[in-house]
Amino acid sequence: MLMRGTVRIAALMMLAAALLPLTAIAKGDPEAGKAKSTTCQACHGLDGKAISPTYPNLAGQYASYMEKALRDYRDGRRTNVIMAPMAANLTDQDIKDLAAWYASQDGLKDLSIP
Ligand code: HEC
Repeated sequence: MLMRGTVRIAALMMLAAALLPLTAIAKGDPEAGKAKSTTCQACHGLDGKAISPTYPNLAGQYASYMEKALRDYRDGRRTNVIMAPMAANLTDQDIKDLAAWYASQDGLKDLSIP
């Protein structure tokens, strides 16, 4: 009984180790996202707080939400004349990095708009 449990745990650990590199690739890098966000700052602000009420705040937004939004703009599922061209040339990795960057910021504390 004890033996079987140990084998099962060992098998699970091997499975986890095998999957680890996949999750590492799939994750966004906030520092890379910061470097890629220079064009975004024009509207979404230096710190993810929008420069005017016309643009949404991104600081502290869920990464998964932003990834979906950006893929949807890029792939034509979400249309907006301003934002769609901004996402048109983003790679999947760009999207993950940008989302990780904005998600890493302090948000939802002061969402007042200038
Ligand atoms: C010229 C201004 C402008 C620039 C530059 C810009 N955006 Fe946007 N962004 C907008 C507007 C306007 C919207 C809202 C569009 C809508 O209603 O669908 C938006 C929406 C978004 C959303 C969805 C927010 C939500 O709450 O659904 C994300 C994520 C986003 N932008 C990320 C980015 C990123 C990343 C960049 C840089 C690659 C960028 N934006 C560059 C104007 C801009």
